[in-house]
Amino acid sequence: MRKKIIAGNWKMNKTHREGMDMLVHLFKMLDFETSIIEDTNKQMPEIVIAPPYLIVENAALLAQAWDVKIAAQNCSSEKEGAFTGEISAAMLKAVKVNYVIVGHSERRKYFHETNQDIAKKIDRVLENDLLVICCVGESLSEREANKEFQSITRQLEECLFHLSADGITKVVIAYEPLWAIGTGRNATPDQAQEMHNYIRSVVSGKFGKDISRKISILYGGSCNPKNAKQIFSQPDVDGGLIGGASLEVRDFLDVIKAIL
Ligand code: PGA
Repeated sequence: MRKKIIAGNWKMNKTHREGMDMLVHLFKMLDFETSIIEDTNKQMPEIVIAPPYLIVENAALLAQAWDVKIAAQNCSSEKEGAFTGEISAAMLKAVKVNYVIVGHSERRKYFHETNQDIAKKIDRVLENDLLVICCVGESLSEREANKEFQSITRQLEECLFHLSADGITKVVIAYEPLWAIGTGRNATPDQAQEMHNYIRSVVSGKFGKDISRKISILYGGSCNPKNAKQIFSQPDVDGGLIGGASLEVRDFLDVIKAIL
């Protein structure tokens, strides 16, 4: 069975104080939810929180006691040196971060990250024994021109195909159609399933069926308490990368409960 994962991407939201307050509240609520399902055959997904850099160290310390994983939202493609303003994967490893999100569409759009940059970042993350959440997604114009599969194939090839069989098993793929991120317009459950199944087939073609069956593929893009259950019920959807709906404890818990 592959891992079910619900990851919250806070983006550039919350001060240290606000973030830590929310985490304490969230972790207590998660504990309560876990105790409720203890006698059922339901299982909590892996919970990942990606706060801003300034919070990751304390968040990772706190999360250890609660069995929650912490992700950074980005890292440098370089190992170390004169790269003002950057944070390396080794620095993240040193403060016990578990995952690094790479290739988020906002990084691609506003910071001009290319697939080649993303491939390098993934190498840095894996060299430091951290796990990767690699985002891929097509634009609205690509979808309207029926080029969504072409676009996703290219992103997968250029970001991931240089990895070894061992490397790819440390990667979680997040399918995030650009037209759905922060727009309130989510992909339909059928659209998500179609693309997740396609992504799995591309991974299978390169790395083999066994590996493709083990890779978790998350959906992201306006996923919220109202639509999460239907999206997560699709066979190739293994969880979600949640932006807006991860900023409030109640919403995020409801999204988590939608996968139980
Ligand atoms: P959203 O963001 O849930 O606010 O659409 C998702 C993401 O960007 O990861």
